Amino acid sequence: MSEKKPVIVYGASGYTGRLVCEYLREYNIPFIAAGRSADKLNAAMKSNVAGIETADYEVVTVPHTASALTELFKGASVVLNTVGPFAKFGVEVVQACLAAKCHYTDTTGEQDWLITLEQEFGAKFANAGLLLAPGIAQMYTTGEIAAQLCLETPGLDTLDIAVFWGGSPTIASTQTILVNAAMAKAYYLEQNKYVEHQPDAGLYNLAIPGQHELALALPWGGTSHPVWFKRDPRVANVKVLGGVFNRALMLGVPQIVAAALEATKDMKPDERYAALAQTAAGVMNTMPPRENPRVNKSLDSVYASGPLGRAHCVIYGNSNYKQTGMLQAFAAAYLLQQSPKRVGFASGCQAFGHHELLGQLRSFGLVGKPVLTVHD
Ligand SMILES: NC(=O)c1ccc[n+]([C@@H]2O[C@H](COP(=O)([O-])OP(=O)(O)OC[C@H]3O[C@@H](n4cnc5c(N)ncnc54)[C@H](OP(=O)(O)O)[C@@H]3O)[C@@H](O)[C@H]2O)c1
Repeated sequence: MSEKKPVIVYGASGYTGRLVCEYLREYNIPFIAAGRSADKLNAAMKSNVAGIETADYEVVTVPHTASALTELFKGASVVLNTVGPFAKFGVEVVQACLAAKCHYTDTTGEQDWLITLEQEFGAKFANAGLLLAPGIAQMYTTGEIAAQLCLETPGLDTLDIAVFWGGSPTIASTQTILVNAAMAKAYYLEQNKYVEHQPDAGLYNLAIPGQHELALALPWGGTSHPVWFKRDPRVANVKVLGGVFNRALMLGVPQIVAAALEATKDMKPDERYAALAQTAAGVMNTMPPRENPRVNKSLDSVYASGPLGRAHCVIYGNSNYKQTGMLQAFAAAYLLQQSPKRVGFASGCQAFGHHELLGQLRSFGLVGKPVLTVHD
């Protein structure tokens, strides 16, 4: 049997997993494309991963249990997990990483999953010298880079963040958005304490850079930023609002969520998850097309302020899922060559550095030059 490939993409048949494989090939990294269906994995590799004929990879099927995943992960170094919603499917993968001594990353934007992971697994990964980095993904690593650029101005303690994207969500993204909105609380950070967003506040009107029309926004599950910046001694307050540029879709989201909540309110958690997943499938049950930079856009805007200073950073980008695939592949490339800047629970910027991540996104043509304005 040949030597174990160093990187495992779990969920490689999915929309995001395929893109992770595509960028691993570009970084010249051998990988295992893992998942539950050999047919889907083989079809995805052959039809959806550009340049796959020159990649060094193998396809492996694995049941979704901690013991089977541990066996698969043993001998590898890095696991890139794209099987979400992660609050539903992630624990087995994290347990297996710890048992097999692999670094863990995923593509989550689920705040409750980040909080759970930090509390339950952060110290264990740190003690093992391993990285536990959920959320290496467009949402919200690109915005984190913008925030870190603002924070290079000393004395700023408050982050007011807007995150927007254009295009269609994938099947698992739709499920994740709905399940997360219905089943988890959304927090912002005030004086370094979690405070719950008002659940029935409705849509916010937001003035976002680059357009005259007001955008419609929601707390979007709270996002990852309050969790990451709770560990940053410079920052005391973080509030995030976001959504999609498509106003019609935004107008529909609160109604879909409220109807799903009402219809499932008396169900047990598993039953409720299944019913919400079914509602999500009614909204989106096909793979979206490959991204088009003229359609699939991203906007991350951060106002940072302090008692006497202000900074504003905007990052305009494209192809959110490609950004995610690239960031995941770079995380693997980094971890195969050197230790992360921090072990245990860490964000992308805390583990790899915001200038390093920005440089990669820029070099692949996925984001423009950040527009940074500083008043200090
Ligand atoms: N934060 C961000 O910016 C960002 C960006 C991209 C993705 N994401 C998140 O990443 C996750 C994946 O997204 P996606 O676009 O790749 O979705 P997707 O195209 O629907 O793919 C989902 C993947 O998970 C696998 N899967 C689903 N249920 C499973 C189960 N019970 N056991 C084992 N495998 C299972 C699927 O396998 P089959 O092919 O066998 O069905 C597929 O490989 C979502 O949670 C999404 O929200 C976040």
